[in-house]
Amino acid sequence: MSYPQDCWYVAATSDEVGDGFTPRRIVDTSVVLFRLSDGSVAALEDRCAHRPYPLSAGHREGDLVVCGYHGCTYDAAGRCVRVPSQDNPPSGAQVRSFPVVERGPFIWVWTGTPGGERLRPPPSTPWLQGDGWGSVGELRTVAANLLLLHEHYLDLTNVFEMHPEMVPPGIEALPPMEEVEMSEVSVSYTRELPKAPLAPWEAQVSGLTSAESFGRKETGTFVTPGLHKQTYTITGSDGPELELVRTHGFTPESAGTTHVFVQISWRGDAVSPDVGTQLADVFAEMADRDISVLETMQRCLDEDTAPRRYVNVKADRAALRARRIMQSMIEEERGR
Ligand code: FES
Repeated sequence: MSYPQDCWYVAATSDEVGDGFTPRRIVDTSVVLFRLSDGSVAALEDRCAHRPYPLSAGHREGDLVVCGYHGCTYDAAGRCVRVPSQDNPPSGAQVRSFPVVERGPFIWVWTGTPGGERLRPPPSTPWLQGDGWGSVGELRTVAANLLLLHEHYLDLTNVFEMHPEMVPPGIEALPPMEEVEMSEVSVSYTRELPKAPLAPWEAQVSGLTSAESFGRKETGTFVTPGLHKQTYTITGSDGPELELVRTHGFTPESAGTTHVFVQISWRGDAVSPDVGTQLADVFAEMADRDISVLETMQRCLDEDTAPRRYVNVKADRAALRARRIMQSMIEEERGR
């Protein structure tokens, strides 16, 4: 195991889960999600208690799930309530059910120790729930470990090599991180860029046509192992002109593969009517390149036949803190 399990992870987006079954493999476990008649979402281990057969290959009977092999039937809490070939189900016949919270576009599932979910609610994401914000999202699956993804998005000095078209004209290097705020469980950095004209993508999505130079403030936050938040604000002489938030719900499928639920959110007075499509295109292109590098790094790590020390630089400060937080969570879970 090389990711924490005592965590809320995004298992699906709201629009993926309806009356049918949504099977997904997360934290090395097959899970099936489905929507109940009261509109809430249930999540069960996608494996019948009788034989190794997925519940998602069966069918619904109202809020019950009927296995497609011998017909054992489960309620939304995972209890076996019917075995067609006998009067009563064997005592204790049950599949694991997972706590679920649906918030904005995300369906969060607690994958850790039962009961632990009451101590740690899922992270709050008000910018994904309206209030003047618009959002577009997509799901990617990346053949790389969760930690590599967090480290990658906590050090954006890679933009000059990887995404030069994203850099405002005239900026040769990112200034150092001004503030790195750390707590026991999270880390966040802030960086302000000197004033510069708009890059073509910024002009397109912001709707700003001014020849004025603008400031930018960028932040990156490791919120939990399951959530990374990046903000980017373009500021003119009258204050913020465009606010962007890139939200990554990172969910381990296994040690070497991670689902990425990405949401790009915006708020600004002058944004173009097509801003959602434009932002989706800009960030999808970035994601393609990010994924290529991340999967290459995972292959390099897999080729290392012995632990190898890699050099760190100042820009790694936030990423190293995130690594320590995750490693201590993993060690604590192993020690139990
Ligand atoms: S395998 Fe599900 S009922 Fe037999």
